[in-house]
Amino acid sequence: MGFVWWRLFVAAVVVILFFHGFSSAERAPNFTFMHSATTAPDISYYDYIIVGGGTAGCPLAASLSQNYSVLLLERGGSPYGNPNITNLSTFGSALSDLSPASPSQRFISEDGVINARARVLGGGSCLNAGFYTRAPPDYIREAAWDGRLVNESYQWVEHLVAFRPPIQAWQSAVRNGLMEAGVMPYNGFTYDHIYGTKVGGTIFDLEGHRHTAADLLEYANPTGLTVLLHAAVHKILFRTKGKSRPLAHGVTFRDSSGTKHRAYLKNGSKNEIIISSGALGSPQLLMLSGVGPAEQLKAHNITVVVDQPMVGQGMSDNPMNAIFVPSPIPVEVSLIQVVGITHFGSYIEAASGENFAGGSTTKDFGMFSPKIGQLSTVPPKQRTPEALAEAVRYMDSLEDAAFKGGFILEKVMGPISTGHMELRTRNPNDNPAVTFNYFKEPQDLERCVQGIETIEKIIESKAFSKFRYEGMSIAALLNATASSPVNLLPKHANASRSLDQFCKDTVMTIWHYHGGCQVGRVVDHDYKVLGVDALRVIDGSTFNYSPGTNPQATVMMLGRYMGKTILDERLASDVSN
Ligand SMILES: Cc1cc2nc3c(=O)[nH]c(=O)nc-3n(C[C@H](O)[C@H](O)[C@H](O)COP(=O)(O)OP(=O)(O)OC[C@H]3O[C@@H](n4cnc5c(N)ncnc54)[C@H](O)[C@@H]3O)c2cc1C
Ligand SMILES: *[C@@H]1O[C@H](CO)[C@@H](O)[C@H](O)[C@H]1NC(C)=O
Ligand SMILES: *[C@@H]1O[C@H](CO)[C@@H](O)[C@H](O)[C@H]1NC(C)=O
Ligand SMILES: *[C@@H]1O[C@H](CO)[C@@H](O)[C@H](O)[C@H]1NC(C)=O
Ligand SMILES: *[C@@H]1O[C@H](CO)[C@@H](O)[C@H](O)[C@H]1NC(C)=O
Ligand SMILES: *[C@@H]1O[C@H](CO)[C@@H](O)[C@H](O)[C@H]1NC(C)=O
Ligand SMILES: *[C@@H]1O[C@H](CO)[C@@H](O)[C@H](O)[C@H]1NC(C)=O
Ligand SMILES: *[C@@H]1O[C@H](CO)[C@@H](O)[C@H](O)[C@H]1NC(C)=O
Ligand SMILES: *[C@@H]1O[C@H](CO)[C@@H](O)[C@H](O)[C@H]1NC(C)=O
Ligand SMILES: *[C@@H]1O[C@H](CO)[C@@H](O)[C@H](O)[C@H]1NC(C)=O
Repeated sequence: MGFVWWRLFVAAVVVILFFHGFSSAERAPNFTFMHSATTAPDISYYDYIIVGGGTAGCPLAASLSQNYSVLLLERGGSPYGNPNITNLSTFGSALSDLSPASPSQRFISEDGVINARARVLGGGSCLNAGFYTRAPPDYIREAAWDGRLVNESYQWVEHLVAFRPPIQAWQSAVRNGLMEAGVMPYNGFTYDHIYGTKVGGTIFDLEGHRHTAADLLEYANPTGLTVLLHAAVHKILFRTKGKSRPLAHGVTFRDSSGTKHRAYLKNGSKNEIIISSGALGSPQLLMLSGVGPAEQLKAHNITVVVDQPMVGQGMSDNPMNAIFVPSPIPVEVSLIQVVGITHFGSYIEAASGENFAGGSTTKDFGMFSPKIGQLSTVPPKQRTPEALAEAVRYMDSLEDAAFKGGFILEKVMGPISTGHMELRTRNPNDNPAVTFNYFKEPQDLERCVQGIETIEKIIESKAFSKFRYEGMSIAALLNATASSPVNLLPKHANASRSLDQFCKDTVMTIWHYHGGCQVGRVVDHDYKVLGVDALRVIDGSTFNYSPGTNPQATVMMLGRYMGKTILDERLASDVSN
């Protein structure tokens, strides 16, 4: 029934679009300040230069542009008018597009898990599963943020990009199953992080159209902002002569034709460069600019500006493990809507339905597609395009019934295990080498096991019974997941008997990786880079652990929060001067 409803829904949307033109999400907004970097002068001057127009960079730029001149440099293009980004039902298309023009850049961690980073205005909010949920009060206390400004900043974001999702039959069954499994109480629809089961927000509107962090640029002062697309920053420039500490004063960037440009801070002691290049990009750019572990920089012939051994340390990725449950009846297409927040430190979420990534008719698992690397029959080191194509053919050979159903997943909070990142080359467009050390700390593994045990209870619940085959035991479901191509880290026959082994053998990413420029290690509590002047980092690289059940709300909030904080402090001191 959900299935038919969905088709009717899509048909209705198409009819509405036909008669009313494109919805606001699809129409390129009238961003008079957005240009290709090829149009930029060789040299230009601004009060603030922000590197990275991502989930944090956009709200930050919109805020600072109210009173100062701001340059926002983004290496990718515009998200507007690209159905691979806008359309909920084509989730995964961008992630499976491996071309250099893709809004997603694939990377494979040294752990052997395929992952992705954004390369588009709006950053990860253009690729993600859309779930929108705030961080809990204790996270905000520990970060030493001002609770009132945090709430105002969340609301500022929510006003433009957060929606209440339409819950259909399959997600309802997961919700009720969570309650039967004891993840109580039921807290209804809320953005707040509260123990129990809830329905969270989403950046997809009721028409299934994505609203991204780029939409927050609608708040910008158009006369204060310049956004340059396809502007890849190669270096932060420091002035050291006659300074007690190196002073950041400019950047070099290249446009799509490879032409080099420079942008400098205008004279003014409070002007700053802010790096918002994401958890991989920010530590990478610091290192390329000479701020990082001296030995490593020297090995790449990079002149050391500050020996900062903590840059690139504290990289973490929350492990995700899932069980696929085939359904005897059709299910709706859904990304994440319901979440269980447990007391033992794992979060339960779910996604359902077949999905036609790339607008093709190829059968697919959406969030768990071999095309995006989540389900691969090929060992990590051998994941060539040909091998991935073979995995896709394997999926095509499965019967339709295999695609009816959904995944119930758990994410380990934190996590406690951490890793590190190293440069591979001096090219900012290349991926650095990153190691996350999934399950290195036993407590992360315990949390995974408890999460999977809860998922088993959901599958066994009365509420979920109509969405599973009666004859298919939990052991068989575990075995199906453990022996199907979820990744090909070495597999062990005992994975369907030992949940420890199941967690290790079937680990995937939920793309919430963070760290690399952590508060207290690389930046101070005002996000200023230690050891240099006029340089901050503001984005997910500063987190010590992942906020809330899913981070994007807090990343966007942080962009607004710091933009407002910097403005307020500076305007107050300008008045008193
Ligand atoms: C597939 C996927 C699914 C996810 N699902 C969810 C979800 O459902 N809910 C949720 O809350 N979170 C989700 N996340 C996580 C969330 O989207 C990220 O944590 C968040 O977007 C990170 O924001 P950021 O600002 O730190 O980095 P980004 O948004 O990645 O921004 C960094 C920007 O900097 C640019 N950049 C990098 N280097 C340079 C350079 N040298 N010069 C110029 N520009 C540069 C990049 O192109 C990018 O646009 C998901 C992420 C992914 C990838
Ligand atoms: C876009 O904004 C500019 C400047 O504000 C205005 O002159 C122009 O008419 C607008 N265009 C559209 C299509 O709204
Ligand atoms: C800063 O910008 C806001 C919004 O544009 C404006 O109301 C305010 O007057 C400005 N303040 C100063 C000191 O320029
Ligand atoms: C959409 O994604 C598919 C691959 O998944 C790719 O072939 C296509 O070029 C993409 N379209 C756009 C507009 O980016
Ligand atoms: C912020 O909002 C949350 C609810 O989302 C509330 O619990 C908290 O008390 C608020 N904090 C402040 C300082 O207003
Ligand atoms: C900044 O000040 C220096 C020295 O006072 C001067 O040479 C330079 O031209 C000024 N730059 C700008 C952009 O005003
Ligand atoms: C560093 O420079 C030396 C001497 O010019 C050269 O031999 C070496 O290959 C360079 N290393 C890298 C990583 O570029
Ligand atoms: C979204 O994608 C689905 C599946 O490819 C398609 O049927 C639908 O028309 C698309 N909607 C829009 C608004 O592009
Ligand atoms: C697990 O699945 C594999 C492959 O589908 C099968 O060969 C094996 O017999 C199954 N093992 C158990 C214990 O069910
Ligand atoms: C599973 O079996 C492998 C050997 O095949 C063994 O190394 C591992 O310890 C076992 N795992 C558990 C949790 O028993």
